[in-house]
Amino acid sequence: MDQHPLIVANWKMNKTIADAVLDFEMIKNGLENIDDIKAVICPSYVWLAPLAEIAKTHSVRQLALGAQNVSNEEKGAFTGEVSAQMLKNLVEYCIVGHSEQVAHFGESPEQTRAKVNLLLKNQITPIACVGENVKSDNSIFEVINIAKQILKDLAAPQRRAVILCYEPVWAISSNPNAQPATGGYAGKVARALSKEFPATKILYGGSVDSKNIREFTVQDSIGGALVGSASLDPKEFLEILRNA
Ligand code: PGA
Repeated sequence: MDQHPLIVANWKMNKTIADAVLDFEMIKNGLENIDDIKAVICPSYVWLAPLAEIAKTHSVRQLALGAQNVSNEEKGAFTGEVSAQMLKNLVEYCIVGHSEQVAHFGESPEQTRAKVNLLLKNQITPIACVGENVKSDNSIFEVINIAKQILKDLAAPQRRAVILCYEPVWAISSNPNAQPATGGYAGKVARALSKEFPATKILYGGSVDSKNIREFTVQDSIGGALVGSASLDPKEFLEILRNA
């Protein structure tokens, strides 16, 4: 497993093409001076191809592109969908099972599992999000249960090719009254996930910024972070990368 922290920027449905290009270039240039890290930028689908072109010129090894979602179908009459095969050679990573897809578009663990399988078939690393809606004594059990449903068909080597992101829904900044989990709490859940899925890299997501990133990355069980709103400002994102 790659030991460098993996920091994933989830730009969600934000940025014009002009902003996406400028911000991507700024992150790319800034990364030249930050070693021992891997940054993954997940812009809107429509900005992937232009950003992939920029990534190719004077490529920076610490930088990669990711998609925010993929279809759970292989190909065919699925208007508006984008297949894993279409993303092949364009991205190294793809987020699946994000709680916003679950909440707004009803993504089920079975659909997330189908996405994971199609991504692996196309040599793209899935970043599968798992998290509980409400913090309770049952949280760890709930989170492991979702991860089991997503990973259940996979043999051990394939499981190792998947990244799990523990992202408690109550900690995502877009929720009113969101509270980041403490490093200790996130570490505890990530440790339980690691025990269940040995050698699978675990990230933490939910209100991560440059001030709290270290709290998470110092945990043995956490290999990086998924960052939403704080990743939209390239200066703040570079600070997160420096502090990770
Ligand atoms: P946040 O979002 O960092 O703004 O909480 C994280 C995410 O939704 O992936």
